[in-house]
Amino acid sequence: MAKLQEQAVKLIYEICDRYRDEKTPLMMILSDIQNEYGYIPLEVQEIVSRQTGISVAEIYGVVTFYSFFSLTPKGKYVIGCCLGTACYVKGAQQVIDKFSEILGIKPGETTEDGLFTLDALRCIGACGIAPAVSISGTVYPKVSVADVQNIVNEYRAKEA
Ligand code: FES
Repeated sequence: MAKLQEQAVKLIYEICDRYRDEKTPLMMILSDIQNEYGYIPLEVQEIVSRQTGISVAEIYGVVTFYSFFSLTPKGKYVIGCCLGTACYVKGAQQVIDKFSEILGIKPGETTEDGLFTLDALRCIGACGIAPAVSISGTVYPKVSVADVQNIVNEYRAKEA
């Protein structure tokens, strides 16, 4: 979406129209755009602003506040390491550091090949199996530093 194509702009108009009668349509509009494209860059926020009359500052605030929204494209596999209290006390920081080291990216970044995004999450409701790591919908329980390389290999093998 770097260069917004006409069709993409049309769809953003359509999404804004969908919630024309809602009193507070912003979250719904942004959720639909996020689901459709996987991210919400500034140029798209400007279109939403023009269509809804909501300021870009407010839209930007929402996009950057909620971790569900993203300003940049995410990788094919999004590795979410929970750093909530229960996971943290069981070594989640070391686990995310290991993912960082193996993938060569910091939390919030995506690998150059577009395969992995690494995210630090707050509690994902799986404290009983801490430290928990969620990868594109699959939750890995009790992940240790020693497991990290195998997990990454598992996803790399899917692409081989
Ligand atoms: S703190 Fe990690 S799942 Fe709850």
